[in-house]
Amino acid sequence: MSQAVYELLLRQPELLQQALILGNGKDLPANWVQQLQQHNSRIITWDWQTFLQYQALNDEQKQFALPQQLQSADWQPQRVILLWPKAKQLATSLVQLIGSQFSECYAVAANDAGGKSIGKACAAWCEHSEKTDSARRCSLWHLQLKSQPPHNWLTQAESFSHQQHSYLTLPGVFSHGKLDTGTRVLLEYLPAPASGRLLDLGCGSGVIGLSLKQQQPQLDVTLADVDAFALRSAELNSLRLGLQTHVQASDGLHDIDGRFDFIISNPPFHQGKDTDYRFAETLFRQARNHLVSDGQLWIVANRHLAYEEWAQHHFQQCEMLAQQDGFKIICLSQPR
Ligand SMILES: C[S@@+](CC[C@H](N)C(=O)[O-])C[C@H]1O[C@@H](n2cnc3c(N)ncnc32)[C@H](O)[C@@H]1O
Repeated sequence: MSQAVYELLLRQPELLQQALILGNGKDLPANWVQQLQQHNSRIITWDWQTFLQYQALNDEQKQFALPQQLQSADWQPQRVILLWPKAKQLATSLVQLIGSQFSECYAVAANDAGGKSIGKACAAWCEHSEKTDSARRCSLWHLQLKSQPPHNWLTQAESFSHQQHSYLTLPGVFSHGKLDTGTRVLLEYLPAPASGRLLDLGCGSGVIGLSLKQQQPQLDVTLADVDAFALRSAELNSLRLGLQTHVQASDGLHDIDGRFDFIISNPPFHQGKDTDYRFAETLFRQARNHLVSDGQLWIVANRHLAYEEWAQHHFQQCEMLAQQDGFKIICLSQPR
């Protein structure tokens, strides 16, 4: 979510009066948080990085959560403004959630992130939709909503199977409803350690950490992600499989305490339209502070990504263990 989206909303500050803002976008303009404070607005975001940008708001004004109850006995929003997410199924699920509690809302997005066609994308759940403003390649829509039944995120979940176990993914979670090829290749080559502390970083559904814990119940597994839908999926999968894990919000290793014997990741590398290597670069740089001296970092990556090259600056040992189906598995040890 680009800064321009917030700037479009700031053109009409009256819209922000006691508004509930629903969505992600950490690139905030300088006066945005102050405007929310002045207008008694609140935010629910499911992105941990976005949540951290709202530190100046008090605890009642900001929530890191799956949106569910959008109003409470002591605070009713005058309007809901949806920061339209790119994942279409998630976006339309959110419209249905809002429609279960409100008769109208606003939705806003950059045009190249679906903003132009919001009305069309949610026509099935709207009585009427109208673009009310557009500037800086963003569009703001007013949606008159059809009344929806009570919302349950689980009805929007999709599952996939791995080693005869089913893993559920809530909307917007990576590899929604199917095991990613890179993850499958990683799990084929990664031996399940018999014991020790293991961190599955960027866990999504939790399939990596959980399937290793299935094989070796002694493992002490932490599942971490920035996305509340991923964390809730990982939590539900832990419960469904009867496996005890620690599920935690973290931006990379930033919010992680202590040291691990193994850090495993299928790192994200797309942000918007561009390839973004920052997650992996930061992970290579910081891993030494979170690995025991003989600890290992395992990564799966698209074959064309030059991860070994950067990793060598931070690890003495860098082994490529396998290449398959366009992916490679790298094991890094002996941090410098
Ligand atoms: C390629 S997916 C892998 C998901 C899962 N491990 C799998 O293999 O199916 C990358 C995951 O990293 C998460 N992620 C993105 N940026 C992150 C960050 N800065 N810190 C932690 N997790 C992040 C995403 O939400 C996503 O779930």
